[in-house]
Amino acid sequence: MSDKEASIKPWGGRFSEPTDQFVERFTASVSFDQRLYHHDINGSLAHAAMLEKVGVLTAAELKDIQSGLEEIRAEILEGSFEWSVSLEDVHMNIEARLTDKIGITGKKLHTGRSRNDQVATDIRLYVRDELVLINKELSRLQQGLVELATREASTIMPGFTHLQTAQPVTFGHHMLAWNEMLERDYSRFQDCSVRLNQCPLGAAALAGTTYPIDRHYSAELLGFDRPTENSLDSVSDRDFAIELASAASLLMTHLSRFSEELVLWTSAQFKFIELPDRFCTGSSIMPQKKNPDVPELIRGKVGRVNGHLISLLTLMKSQPLAYNKDNQEDKEPVFDIIDTVKDCLKAYADMIPAITVNEDVTREAAMRGFSTATDLADYLVRKGLPFRDAHEVVGKSVAYGIAENKDLSEMTLDELRTFSSDISADVFDVLTLEGSVNARNHIGGTAPEQVLSAAKRAENRINNRS
Ligand code: ARG
Repeated sequence: MSDKEASIKPWGGRFSEPTDQFVERFTASVSFDQRLYHHDINGSLAHAAMLEKVGVLTAAELKDIQSGLEEIRAEILEGSFEWSVSLEDVHMNIEARLTDKIGITGKKLHTGRSRNDQVATDIRLYVRDELVLINKELSRLQQGLVELATREASTIMPGFTHLQTAQPVTFGHHMLAWNEMLERDYSRFQDCSVRLNQCPLGAAALAGTTYPIDRHYSAELLGFDRPTENSLDSVSDRDFAIELASAASLLMTHLSRFSEELVLWTSAQFKFIELPDRFCTGSSIMPQKKNPDVPELIRGKVGRVNGHLISLLTLMKSQPLAYNKDNQEDKEPVFDIIDTVKDCLKAYADMIPAITVNEDVTREAAMRGFSTATDLADYLVRKGLPFRDAHEVVGKSVAYGIAENKDLSEMTLDELRTFSSDISADVFDVLTLEGSVNARNHIGGTAPEQVLSAAKRAENRINNRS
């Protein structure tokens, strides 16, 4: 290869032979980082405007760069842009095209900049935009949950510990438990977008640049809060991507738990709820089947997101300062996390308000599990029995109920009094399912009245988001 061919690469000046074809493909990122084009162009526009402000570019040069970059954006959008692997990545593809279009001025765009601060800027801008979309979808899901909780505020179901019937709860209360987890997920994503919002531009390759740059100006143009403090840190750390991944892993963990319940509850054995047909699929062999594929798949997708979190942590581990090519490996996990989370949230936000609850079934299930046993023990404590003795009395009455196939509330007063003479007619106020849930009437409790006010508070929180 001639010197001329070796130096087709924007960095080819010091090379005496062209890149090995396999190495070229192996080291290129354009197949996946082209997704950053929009943010790459915005970053370049801000950098160019800054260069013009400080006198490194003329107004005419800036104008040419601006129109060239906008034309390139349009070409990419309409699909006519030709991406080239030999130009390695999104940055050099766009820069080379700019030079094709506007000539020598295109070559001035990279003054005072390196791909290292460029890519660190692009990926922050991209993640910041995607976090807005993720939290929008998360809010929509929360709205649906609050709506369902309000609708089912007084629907009784068994509450479980160890997946054994524990105490009656209201369906609305159960839904609002998931909402609380999602609320924290929302704030984790929010937090991540605040911390990442510093502009790396100007850090250049690692040490900064000799040009009289105005880092505050480019930061401001891109909507960053301020320029980053340290050039070495700016180009090298991807902790914001790891924060995104860990917030996403927690969200997916919550969704996988929720999905597990939906899968259980739609089974013939539980029958607590129905999912609309449009969220389910059938079996190619068993005609009776209606499978809850959507929650199952979401339960499974937590695996890939957790995997990406570990990839990113491992990618970052032991990297010396400053930029290393290792960091190119941040993109595919970040992109897949974002795609997966957005899809799962969309599916959930569409599905949740469409759930119907089989109130008779959930009520009957609560009735069958001696779920008001604690209420009877508390009743006896109020009559003066020490809690341990009350526990013993109720244990015996439950054993009797199992043998006779009767819930506590279905026993006669005489039957109940064989276990304790402290029991009188007012016991039935606490033994009913309604009595049990209504009695837990404090903030965070399962009483329908509390569910309605908790739902209202949740709705206000969602509506007051900026
Ligand atoms: N494609 C590279 C990345 O994703 C861009 C930065 C390359 N910088 C370099 N010095 N090779 O990280």
